[in-house]
Amino acid sequence: DWTMAAFREEMTAKIRDQVGDGRVICGLSGGVDSAVAAVLIHEAIGSQLTCVFVDTGLMRAGEAEEVVSLFRGHYNIPLVHVEAEDLFLGKLDGVDDPERKRKIIGGTFIDVFEEEAKKIGGADFLAQGTLYPDVIESVSFDGGPSVTIKSHHNVGGLPERMNMKLVEPLRELFKDEVRALGRELGLPEAFVGRHPFPGPGLAIRIPGAVSKEKADILRKADAIYLDQIRKEGLYDEIWQAFAVLLPVRTVGVMGDERTYDWVLALRAVTSTDGMTADSYAFSHDFLSRTATRIINEVRGINRVTYDVTSKPPGTIEWE
Ligand code: XMP
Repeated sequence: DWTMAAFREEMTAKIRDQVGDGRVICGLSGGVDSAVAAVLIHEAIGSQLTCVFVDTGLMRAGEAEEVVSLFRGHYNIPLVHVEAEDLFLGKLDGVDDPERKRKIIGGTFIDVFEEEAKKIGGADFLAQGTLYPDVIESVSFDGGPSVTIKSHHNVGGLPERMNMKLVEPLRELFKDEVRALGRELGLPEAFVGRHPFPGPGLAIRIPGAVSKEKADILRKADAIYLDQIRKEGLYDEIWQAFAVLLPVRTVGVMGDERTYDWVLALRAVTSTDGMTADSYAFSHDFLSRTATRIINEVRGINRVTYDVTSKPPGTIEWE
């Protein structure tokens, strides 16, 4: 694709221009955007870039392994793997307001990046895979919406005290363009085609206060849901599919025992840019088979619902 080839060249030149001989830290979230940004920046400035994968304890099942093997194995780009589950979950403890959760997560990411920057003798820039829709949905500016819908962890969630400058090479792109750029840069198709995953991770899929116990339950249920979707060959028809662990317990019956466990909501949407979306029309049979599997295999969940809300008036994520 000649357009992407040209963009690739233009962007690498711009990055070299902006960064000079400075040092850059790039946070990888497990999603496509940050991976594409990292590979592009690495192409531009090589070893001036340090990639950091922060395990927040709010990642999906297998996420860390996939990112680490892509960067170290496929690209041979060095990657620092930071275990920060206790830090993130500690700061989120008891916090139930969605915007506060987002701000805490954004701020904690910066703390970790600054800590890692110190370890390499200082960094001048923080690189992020911010896309155009992240920018317009997070901040109000002339011509954009006048209210903040959600502070994206990497836009409105950034603290003002941060002393690194931002490098955001994807800021003018939409998701489909990022995927095309990823292909152009040789990212494996399975990685390029991954559903978007928000930086705040599972925290915004656990409405209300987050705990390790809830994150573990959600991770298991989410993995089963995605496994079902892949087995049916539906993954590529869907923009994004995930489970949400509701802060609601209901009464159920298992064998001849009463249960009193959490409710899980399943979400799947079609979209072209994430700005608007429709609920995906699974067959009822698929949904009931998936519900049965989740309730049988995940302790702590005894009821499963399906979210049929479009965006607008809903949003894709629940917080
Ligand atoms: P909403 O929920 O606003 O989401 O309809 C639109 C798209 O953006 C993703 N999303 C985020 N991505 N940081 C990100 O990198 C964030 O803070 C964030 N919040 C939402 C969401 O998963 C969907 O694809």
